Amino acid sequence: MLIKVKRGWELPESAATPERVFRDRRRLMKAVAAGPILLAAGATLSACSAEAEVEEDPSASLYPVEGNSRYKVDRPMTPEELVTNYNNFYEFGSSKDIAAKAQQLPIRPWSVTIDGLVDAPITIGIDELLAKMPLEERVYRLRCVEAWSITIPWSGFPLKALVDFAKPLGSAKYLVMETFLNPEVASGQRAVWYPWPYVEGLTMAEATNELAFIATGLYGKPIPKQNGAPLRLAVPWKYGFKSIKSIVRFTFSDERPVNFWQALAASEYGFWANVNPEVPHPRWSQATERVLGTDERVPTRLFNGYAPFVADLYEGLEGERLFA
Ligand code: MTE
Repeated sequence: MLIKVKRGWELPESAATPERVFRDRRRLMKAVAAGPILLAAGATLSACSAEAEVEEDPSASLYPVEGNSRYKVDRPMTPEELVTNYNNFYEFGSSKDIAAKAQQLPIRPWSVTIDGLVDAPITIGIDELLAKMPLEERVYRLRCVEAWSITIPWSGFPLKALVDFAKPLGSAKYLVMETFLNPEVASGQRAVWYPWPYVEGLTMAEATNELAFIATGLYGKPIPKQNGAPLRLAVPWKYGFKSIKSIVRFTFSDERPVNFWQALAASEYGFWANVNPEVPHPRWSQATERVLGTDERVPTRLFNGYAPFVADLYEGLEGERLFA
C-alpha cells in the first residue's frame, strides 16, 4: 500500500505450481483435535533473519483440499516463492520484506469472535471453526491498488458459510472484520500514527456473494503467517487492501465502518475499492498492472475480471465512490 512513496516491484520468476490431490479432511481433523502437532519446540524465531524458522501449523493435515473448478483464471499461477516473500502486512512494517518478522505472530491458540447484530455472539477457536467449514481450493487473482497483481491458489471456505454460522439479525447491513492487535510481536503496530487495529468491511450482499472467501490455506498448505494466517479475507474483485489478514473478529453492524486505509487517507482510499482501470488513483493510473513474476504489464479489467459475478451488486449505487 502506498501512502507517500512509490516502490519498485522488480522480482524474480520461477516455476508454476503442481496440481493437488483431495484427502479425507474429516478423518485428519480428528487427528488434529486429538493433539496439536506443534513442531515449534526448540525453533528460534528471528525477526531479523530472512531465514527465520517457520513453525509447523497444527492445521497442516487438512491440506490439500479439493479444487473448485468454477473459479479458474486465464493467467499462469504466480510462483509460491514470490507470493510468500513480497507482502503487504503493515503490522510487521511498511516494506514488502516482512515474511521473517511475521513468523513471530503466535497463531495458536487463536480465537475468532463473532458478535454485533447476531442471534448469539460466540468466540470460537480456529481449529473448531475449520472443522465446521466446507474447505475447498480456488484460484483467484489479486490486484493490489499499487498496480501489481498475482494469481494464487487459496484454500479456505466461502464467507457465506461463516455468515450462515453466525446467524445475523435482519438489521445487519455490514460485516466488519478486525485484525489482531499485538504490538509486542507486531512491531508495525508500535507506529502510533496508524489507526490500529486494521479494520475492513463489506456490505451483507458483498459478504454473501459467492466470490467472497476466507482463505486459510495457500498452495495446498496452511496459509503462511506473512499472508495472513490463520484466516484472511479474499475478495478478488476489489483492490487487495480490502482482503484483511489475520482476522480475530467479525462484527455484524448497521453502520458502515471506516476502514484502515480510509482512516489514514480518505481522499485516496474508500470503502468500496472495486477494481476499475478507468478510475485512476489520485497519484497514479490504474489502467494497467505489473504481473509479478513476469516482465509483463497487462491491461487491468473492470472488477479485476469478475464483473459477471459482482457487477449487479452495484446497480443503483452510482452516486457512491465505488472505485476508490
Ligand atoms: N491486512 C492487514 N491486516 N494488514 C495489511 O497491511 N495489507 C493489504 C491486504 N491485507 C494488509 C492486509 C494489502 S495493501 C494487500 S495488497 C494484501 O493484503 C496483500 O496480501 P499478500 O501479502 O498476501 O499478497
